Amino acid sequence: MDSSSLGHCFITGGAGYIGSNLADRLLALGHRVTAYDNLSTGFMEFIAEAEKHQNFKLIRGDVLDLPALTHAMAGADTVFHLAANADVRFGTDHPRRDLEQNTIATFNVLEAMRANGVKRIGFSSTGSVYGEAAVIPTPEDAPFPIQTSLYGASKLAGEGLIAAYAEGFGLSGHIFRFVSVLGERYTHGHVFDFIKKLMADPTRLHILGDGRQRKSYMHVGDCIDAMLLAMTRAHEKVNVFNLGFDGYVEVIDSAKIICSELGVTPEFTFEGGERGWIGDNPFIWLSPKKIMALGWQPKCSIEEGVRRTVRWIKANPWVLERRS
Ligand SMILES: NC(=O)c1ccc[n+]([C@@H]2O[C@H](COP(=O)([O-])OP(=O)(O)OC[C@H]3O[C@@H](n4cnc5c(N)ncnc54)[C@H](O)[C@@H]3O)[C@@H](O)[C@H]2O)c1
Repeated sequence: MDSSSLGHCFITGGAGYIGSNLADRLLALGHRVTAYDNLSTGFMEFIAEAEKHQNFKLIRGDVLDLPALTHAMAGADTVFHLAANADVRFGTDHPRRDLEQNTIATFNVLEAMRANGVKRIGFSSTGSVYGEAAVIPTPEDAPFPIQTSLYGASKLAGEGLIAAYAEGFGLSGHIFRFVSVLGERYTHGHVFDFIKKLMADPTRLHILGDGRQRKSYMHVGDCIDAMLLAMTRAHEKVNVFNLGFDGYVEVIDSAKIICSELGVTPEFTFEGGERGWIGDNPFIWLSPKKIMALGWQPKCSIEEGVRRTVRWIKANPWVLERRS
């Protein structure tokens, strides 16, 4: 893939799970990369390899600090905006957090782009914007969704701002609605929680909901392939893509894959109910037909993605301590 048109890439959240994997990939493709991160949930360990590269720079800063963000972005050609409060589950514990970290943060990124004349943005949105979709597999043009989480609502607002800036200021926006992304450096989400609980106590696993929730996942490498493909091949003002594996597993199945990879046979117990928490979507399966039409194919199955995640966490147990 020729990604040269992306030029100097500025990644908000570049020390996080997906952002650091993206930074490594862009460096390997020959790009200059600036990561902008406040290290609230990112780790220096994730960018240790990138930091050896002459084309890489980390700027420690907060996306809510607009003057610092604007200054840091000078000279960038493309922005990947990944910094966020990425945890969907605890929105109702602190309702302002999603608004600030996801919506206002996105506004700041767009303002910094405007000040610097940067014209391209790739944005990590989420399948949570579909709420409990009526159409499954869910296409990008599904009926306008009813929101079920503050996280989804705050990301949808971010999508709206990007579209309005594209119209008003001539930007081009690529909006990516991810399912749960698995793989190396994975540090949050229910698969992480299961692995953490099972490594602490291999004899039992308590599952929120009834375990029958159907979830779709994708491997981080496939996610990055898809983002870069879309950003080099789709040229509308606003380009919206679902990114996910074309299928799903039940939560209990992913728990069983984790157990088999860990070599443990716990007793499963269930909280009960169709949903694990407020805003949990009992059935997520996004149609990836639009990105597949550009030539994207996943290289990693859901099962292999879960297994690779377990292997990485086993090899990096420090992450279990540091990400509580
Ligand atoms: N991981 C998934 O399954 C998934 C699914 C859907 C969408 N997403 C989205 O993808 C993006 C990346 O997620 P991730 O899983 O890599 O999460 P992550 O928490 O590992 O990465 C987020 C990064 O942003 C940084 N950050 C957070 N707030 C910041 C701020 N105010 N200023 C500067 N830096 C800040 C964090 O330190 C971290 O390095 C997020 O926008 C998330 O909402 C992730």
